[in-house]
Amino acid sequence: MMPRLCPIGQSGSSPTEAVDVNGRGGICVSATEDRISSQMSFMTHSVCVAAAALLVSIGAQSDKPPTPTPEQTEFFDTKIRPVLFDTCGECHLEDENGGLRIDSREALVKGGENGPAVVPGDPEKSLLIHAIRRDGTGPRMPKEGPRLSDDTIAAFMQWIKDGAPWPPEKANR
Ligand code: HEC
Repeated sequence: MMPRLCPIGQSGSSPTEAVDVNGRGGICVSATEDRISSQMSFMTHSVCVAAAALLVSIGAQSDKPPTPTPEQTEFFDTKIRPVLFDTCGECHLEDENGGLRIDSREALVKGGENGPAVVPGDPEKSLLIHAIRRDGTGPRMPKEGPRLSDDTIAAFMQWIKDGAPWPPEKANR
């Protein structure tokens, strides 16, 4: 199709080449560009909004519990859950000593009077680790009980490093 010419602009500028839109006659390139650029800025804006929304959802997701792999579930059920419920549960379930409950990931992340007990991914920032290591920066746990074994302490550190994945309760528990 032959290019058409636009009417000469008000300012007397030279005619601009027209483009064909759906074969229904041409519209002026400059007009098209205007339209495109306003559409573009709208699109750019939408893209920004979408990107921001995505970032927010990623941000929110980073605090979402990771889905445990079967190995992590096994690890948790053999090394972590029994200690939490059997050893710590005596004082950190109904009693909530120190304001701390230990029966969910959420509760441990929220922590007690002194803030988060577990900082997923960061054992060194986790009060729980300092407490069970009895390294002097926090209470000594389990209170009034023997120190946990080095293996158990290492297991807790590993678990927190992994992001503290908390598998759902087994149906038969
Ligand atoms: C005999 C009771 C008892 C047992 C068992 C016990 N705790 Fe505690 N825990 C307490 C008390 C009481 C506090 C409050 C601080 C204090 O008095 O030392 C506390 C505080 C804590 C805190 C600090 C909470 C805060 O924000 O101040 C953590 C973390 C903690 N316990 C973890 C554990 C873990 C992990 C276990 C199991 C390995 C455990 N505790 C077992 C009684 C207990």
